[in-house]
Amino acid sequence: MKVDGVPYRTIWLGQDGWSVEIIDQTRLPYHFETVRLASVDDAAHAISAMLVRGAPLIGATAAYGMALAMRAGASDATLQAAHDRLLATRPTAVNLRWALDTMAALLRPLNPDARVAAAYREAARICDEDAGICEAIGNNGLALITALHEKKNDRVNLLTHCNAGWLATVDWGTALAPIYKAHDAGIPVHVWVDETRPRNQGAALTAWELGRHGVPHTVIVDNAGGHLMQTGQVDMAITGTDRTSANGDVCNKIGTYLKALAAHDNGVPFYVALPSPTIDWTLPRGSDIPIEERGGDEVSLIAGRGPNGEVVRVQLTPDGSPLGNPAFDVTPARLVTGLVTERGICAASSDVLAGLFPELARAA
Ligand code: MRU
Repeated sequence: MKVDGVPYRTIWLGQDGWSVEIIDQTRLPYHFETVRLASVDDAAHAISAMLVRGAPLIGATAAYGMALAMRAGASDATLQAAHDRLLATRPTAVNLRWALDTMAALLRPLNPDARVAAAYREAARICDEDAGICEAIGNNGLALITALHEKKNDRVNLLTHCNAGWLATVDWGTALAPIYKAHDAGIPVHVWVDETRPRNQGAALTAWELGRHGVPHTVIVDNAGGHLMQTGQVDMAITGTDRTSANGDVCNKIGTYLKALAAHDNGVPFYVALPSPTIDWTLPRGSDIPIEERGGDEVSLIAGRGPNGEVVRVQLTPDGSPLGNPAFDVTPARLVTGLVTERGICAASSDVLAGLFPELARAA
């Protein structure tokens, strides 16, 4: 996607041909800065400190992290240590494990001399594949928005939570890909953007990337969605997911479940866009998904731009109040109208999912 007319992906190889460049998402929306990753530790830090985030981009960064590790020493021990180090960065998004296992399965049988080049090739392939998958999700989801527009013959109002746009993937995004496709096709769309406390990925990232692409949107507080659905102001809700279990239960950013409940109560279709590497075929149900518990400072402190343009963090809570910060929740499949995948739109159920991806379901 483009930033001020310049095409960008969220991760790319540096000009030296081996280091890796990313967009520092902790600096958005006020500063667009890139950061150079030169070691597996840099890659691990970028993931755990959320310079990069979003399930697919976490996987892509981990893949390049493995390539950086191989460059520093391609022994079996280094390979295993890099795999373990990167896997420990964030627990919920399954794309991380998928990318690391894909890399390790390719590299392990190779002679150490051949591992560096193979690792870079595979990381690049994973990135290209993600961009292709997300564009296909966009094309498939476009049909939903087109149908809503034909029925209504007026602007289509969509609601999304967190950031499942191109910043969360290598390109295009998952939940936002159909919205970009619809906007580009001339369908009038408007997006309600949940701010997404505590880290405000909606207010900071989704609003930023929609704005850069010229997509009409309105940032709302997380508690507004139910009211907007109740008063007929949302035609469809669409989110991403960090891990979807084999039965179609969807784990996504904390607060997604509440939006799905409100959508169900108000007859608003609730879709989840997901690339197949986000499906965890080893987990029969969503209650088995590990939920990341993050630091309390994300709850007690909030960052924003101060009067002089500098980014400041201010305290919201009384000194000493205990703080809880579960980062994700699970929306049961029964609340999901459909899953938008690269192979088409399907019901959130074991049989239908396995029917769409038989080779992946069998391999698990
Ligand atoms: O904690 P984050 O910012 O990594 O969480 C991201 C989300 O919850 C996204 O909605 C999800 O990864 C889907 S992204 C395509």
